[in-house]
Amino acid sequence: MIALDARLRCIYEAAGCCDCIADIGSDHALLPIALLQSGKAKRAIACDVRPGPLERSRKNALKYNIENIDFVLSDGFDALAEGSYDKAAICGMGGILISEIIRRARSKAHCELILQPMTAYEDLRAFLWNNGFTIADERFAVDAKKPYVVIIARYAGENERYTYSDLFLGKIRPDTAEFKAFCKKVRAQAEKRLKGALHRNLPTSDLEELIKSCIFSEKD
Ligand SMILES: C[S@@+](CC[C@H](N)C(=O)[O-])C[C@H]1O[C@@H](n2cnc3c(N)ncnc32)[C@H](O)[C@@H]1O
Repeated sequence: MIALDARLRCIYEAAGCCDCIADIGSDHALLPIALLQSGKAKRAIACDVRPGPLERSRKNALKYNIENIDFVLSDGFDALAEGSYDKAAICGMGGILISEIIRRARSKAHCELILQPMTAYEDLRAFLWNNGFTIADERFAVDAKKPYVVIIARYAGENERYTYSDLFLGKIRPDTAEFKAFCKKVRAQAEKRLKGALHRNLPTSDLEELIKSCIFSEKD
């Protein structure tokens, strides 16, 4: 199988098995290629909003002799037919862009979603819980010393309650080295914001609670 870095491997493992994976913002198409090579996906659709990355996907599929893959120039889910895939990955983009792609997709995004936000993961979780999605699982990876989160979500039709800490750490908090590394990053950002809030006499209780939750999860 093609070599995947720790971030992509985590996404690959979170994706599991399916009939057809739609990889939105596929770029190099390494995720669908790995899923097809291992037989975890029977078919794949590599989508990208730009022709250049789509060409890169095509070249890689050719290089690895992958056949069951379609290449679609598409802004988000726009050019995809609903029901032509049973899983969708939206990875390697900012959390706000991922949220916008899901919002615009409407029922086209009502399949299992594998999401990997590079930034604004708290905005993505808020979007999901405020818009009828549930987070079934969260996975964490560390690649080149940087922690990443992978969110597995699906549409449930009901909004969910959450705390401020849930937005930053999620509700599923695995006792793993990768999650501890993620907590460390969140804590460093929260401590910076706490300093600023204290300086400007703003409320601090949410940030203090978040820092406590990070310290608790970082413990061995
Ligand atoms: C940084 S790459 C991520 C590639 C791969 N998904 C990964 O995680 O390694 C982001 C890709 O998303 C594409 N993209 C950005 N906005 C998009 C949109 N609205 N619809 C489809 N693709 C988009 C970009 O063109 C780019 O190729």
